[in-house]
Amino acid sequence: MKTTTISNLNAMKAAGDKFAVITAYDYTFSRMIETAGIEVTLVGDSLGNVIQGRDSTIPVTVDEMAYHTEIVKRGNSRTLLMTDMPFMSYANENQAMENAAILMQAGAQMVKLEGGEWLAETVYMLTERGIPVCGHVGLTPQSVHKLGGYKVQGKEEESAQQMIAEAQILEEAGADLIVVECVPSSLGRELSQALHIPVIGIGAGPDTDAQVLVLQDMLGISQRLPKFSKNFLDQNSSIQEAIIAYGNEVRSGAFPCAEHCFK
Ligand code: KIV
Repeated sequence: MKTTTISNLNAMKAAGDKFAVITAYDYTFSRMIETAGIEVTLVGDSLGNVIQGRDSTIPVTVDEMAYHTEIVKRGNSRTLLMTDMPFMSYANENQAMENAAILMQAGAQMVKLEGGEWLAETVYMLTERGIPVCGHVGLTPQSVHKLGGYKVQGKEEESAQQMIAEAQILEEAGADLIVVECVPSSLGRELSQALHIPVIGIGAGPDTDAQVLVLQDMLGISQRLPKFSKNFLDQNSSIQEAIIAYGNEVRSGAFPCAEHCFK
């Protein structure tokens, strides 16, 4: 199995080949993800929910993200390792630079930031300094209180077009990937077509260039299974097989199907 690079992911988008992303927070699962041939591992700040038992990602700190990045990195040298910058760790450019450096030195190969146009300068500054960036648009969980809950975003034509325009600004600023969370499938498709860089969907329909799921959700061991997720352990007899099945279903387009999507 070859090591994933940003150029591999771009080549996959150009060829119309989908890739799979999954979250990991520790060494053992990280090894299993590598063994399963998943292309990208995300050390998500969702660890606030699924590891720490908090009700949002807001309390998660840079030190915690760095710790989990280090231990995930130890289990996995082949997948591209992306780490979330947590709440308020990139509120201004200097903060973003200092905190991204901490995460990169812990083993991340890319950092992920939630937000749109307001992040353009930050994305430019980080990428100019050699730090690859993934944007995150749509439902951005760090803004849950501003959004008024975990709701589907971009349902109206105006907000959908604004989301596409903001993602294009992030691409122009130098972002290498974009995550889009909880939007109608039609918007997931439009966004993937509008951008040259790969778009990774979660609850964004079947037509994005890639899919990402939270590990505990796709193993069916979260407290509540989100509509956009699927329990892959249901039809597989081991965790390793479930992760392999997830990767295969993403690449074949079998996941997500209508029951996991929003209109
Ligand atoms: O924190 C996380 O796990 C994420 C994914 C849901 C995309 O950002």
